[in-house]
Amino acid sequence: MQNDKEKIAILAIESSCDETSASVCVDGRILSNLIATQKVHEQFGGVVPELASRAHMQNIVPVVDLAIKKSGIPLNRIDAIAFTQSPGLIGSLLVGSQFAKSLSLSLDKPLITVHHMQAHVLSNLIQDPKPEFPFLCLTVSGGHTQIVLCRSPLEMEVIGETIDDAAGEAFDKSAKLLGLPYPGGPLIDHYAQRGNPKRYSFPEPQIPGFDFSFSGVKTAILYFLQNAGKSYVFKETFTATEEEKRLFIKQNLADICASIQARIVSILLNKLKKAAVATGIRNICLAGGVSANSGLRKAFTEMGASKNWHTFIPAFEYCTDNAAMIAITGYYKFLAKDFSSLSVSANARAEW
Ligand code: KG4
Ligand code: ZN
Repeated sequence: MQNDKEKIAILAIESSCDETSASVCVDGRILSNLIATQKVHEQFGGVVPELASRAHMQNIVPVVDLAIKKSGIPLNRIDAIAFTQSPGLIGSLLVGSQFAKSLSLSLDKPLITVHHMQAHVLSNLIQDPKPEFPFLCLTVSGGHTQIVLCRSPLEMEVIGETIDDAAGEAFDKSAKLLGLPYPGGPLIDHYAQRGNPKRYSFPEPQIPGFDFSFSGVKTAILYFLQNAGKSYVFKETFTATEEEKRLFIKQNLADICASIQARIVSILLNKLKKAAVATGIRNICLAGGVSANSGLRKAFTEMGASKNWHTFIPAFEYCTDNAAMIAITGYYKFLAKDFSSLSVSANARAEW
C-alpha cells in the first residue's frame, strides 16, 4: 500500500489441485478468501488433471477479480503477488503461476513463491489465538501427511511423513471400496457419526519414528469386504459374492465407517503424541483438509486436554485448499524480503 508503508497488502493465488482460490491480506489480516471448487471431477472418482487445468483457466480471472473487490483494496495498492509454486498438478500450478507472473509484471510489484505444504502449516497463524513458536503441526490432506516442527514462520522441518498413502487418500480409497463417491472422506465422517468405532478392528501398522503408513489398513479393508466381514486377511474359501458384499456393507455401513475412521485417527494421533513427547513441544496444531474430520478434531482436542497441550485447529475454510494460507505465508516472506524473479517456474514436486 503505497501511502502507508506500515501496511503491507498481499494478493495471493492458489491453484495447485482442483480449487481456484484468491485472497487479499493486509498486515497478515485476511480481507477476502474466494474459493471456486471444481465439481467436474466427481463423476470420475478423482481429480482429472487436464480438466482441472481447464477449470482453473475459466475461474482464475473472476476469482481474483472478486477477491480484490471484496477486500476493498484496489489492485494498484497491492504490494506483492504471492502464488503456489509447488507441489501439485503441473497444469494446475502453471495457470496460477503464469497469472501471478503476468500481474507482477504489469503492476511492477514483487513476486513471492509459496510452498503449498508450508502454507497449510501457516494457516494456523491466520486467526487468534495463534500458537507460540516452536509448535508441531500435523498436516493431513489428500496428497500429504506430515508432522512438521515449526520454529518460526519460515523455519520448518518435516520430522515425519507417510511412506505410502496420505491420510486423505486412506479415507477416499476406503470410501471407494464401500461404493461411496469421490471425495469419500467427508462421507465416511458423516456415516461414522452413527456408528460403533469398536465394532471392527483394523490393524495398526508398526512403522519406526514419526512416519506413517496407511496402505496396510487399506488392504485389510479390501479383504474384510471381500470376505463380507468374516476376516481381515484374504481367504479364498470365504470370498463373498458381490450381492453378499453389497448387503454386508449396507447393513453395517455406520459401524464400518466408524471403525475405519477410528483406526486412521489413532494412527495419526499416536505418532503425533510420540513426536510431542520426543520434542517436548506442547503447542500442537492441525492443518489440511482431513482436519475437517469430526472424529479427528474431537480425539485431537481430547488428547490435547489430557496431555496439557495448547491445541489449535484452523477454521474449516482455512483447512481445505485456500489462498488465505498462501497470503499469510506471502506476508511473512515479504517481511523477510524473500522475493522471486519472473524466471521462476511451477514445480510439481519441490522438496522443502
Ligand atoms: O487439503 P485438501 O483440501 O486438499 C489437498 O491438498 O489434498 O484435502 C482434501 C482431502 C480429501 O482426501 C478429502 O476426502 C479429505 O481431505 N477430507 C476429509 C474430510 N473433509 C475433507 N476426510 C475425512 N473427513 C472429512 N470430514
Ligand atoms: Zn492442500
